[in-house]
Amino acid sequence: MDALTRTRPAGPVVLVTGAAGGIGGAVARRFLDGGWRVAACDLADTPAAIASDQRLLAVGADLRDPAQCTAAVDATVAWAGRLDALVNAAGVWTQGASEHTTEAEFDHVFDVNVKGLYFISAAAIPHLAQSRGCIVNLSSDAGIQGNAGAAVYCASKGAVSILTKALALELAPRGVRVNAVCPGDVDSPMLHGQAEAHGGDRPEAYLARLLASYPQGTNARFIRTDEVAELVWFLAQPLAAPITGANLSIDFGLSAGIV
Ligand SMILES: NC(=O)c1ccc[n+]([C@@H]2O[C@H](COP(=O)([O-])OP(=O)(O)OC[C@H]3O[C@@H](n4cnc5c(N)ncnc54)[C@H](O)[C@@H]3O)[C@@H](O)[C@H]2O)c1
Repeated sequence: MDALTRTRPAGPVVLVTGAAGGIGGAVARRFLDGGWRVAACDLADTPAAIASDQRLLAVGADLRDPAQCTAAVDATVAWAGRLDALVNAAGVWTQGASEHTTEAEFDHVFDVNVKGLYFISAAAIPHLAQSRGCIVNLSSDAGIQGNAGAAVYCASKGAVSILTKALALELAPRGVRVNAVCPGDVDSPMLHGQAEAHGGDRPEAYLARLLASYPQGTNARFIRTDEVAELVWFLAQPLAAPITGANLSIDFGLSAGIV
């Protein structure tokens, strides 16, 4: 046993991307609370302001670069000696009329939401196969139904949802489960950024319009990040063993059909 192994805290290990964000941060906290070690990955210049905990490793990576995806997995395994789960919560939003969408906007959304998620998952596969671990992807209601004015984001999340199914089939023989959660509107920096960027001088009206589309009517509220984190946590537990290839909605029924 070397010195690093002797001083290493015990417990299963999760690598969470987008860990400086709303959902990724809540997921990191949930796994820490559950006794796991957490590699919290986000852009290098974004502080992983989660907790000061010896069970936490901050990993800087721009996931648009496949080499940095691999480096993030390598850093996690070098630190913890194993990898039991990967939660892909990094993501970016865009909206706007399709005839005005630039190639740069399109590439940015696909490079983070699809390419980065794919290559960090690919790098994690050998380690997850060893631990018989799992991947949980953040898709969206926009991955299973169209959202007007958000064609590029919807296409990226549709890719995440179907990639989840294909990877689940590919990795099932090696004991690795792959699932996606599909939240509706979550009270997070992404949502408020959307409202600020696209709500003109009335971001609160933008948010109210979103809530108006929920079947709860005047009782509608945004989903909390800890509610999404709890579902992600469940999917990484032994009780979820039969669940793979699933896209689980957590959206107050938003994607269930027409009211
Ligand atoms: N907030 C919502 O309403 C909502 C709804 C459905 C799905 N989602 C999805 O859930 C995930 C998390 O969303 P959130 O609400 O926490 O958003 P958020 O903006 O709070 O967090 C996203 C994080 O991703 C990181 N990130 C962006 N580009 C990156 C890159 N190139 N490399 C590494 N990290 C990068 C950001 O720095 C940020 O910390 C996203 O995939 C999002 O699309 C969000």
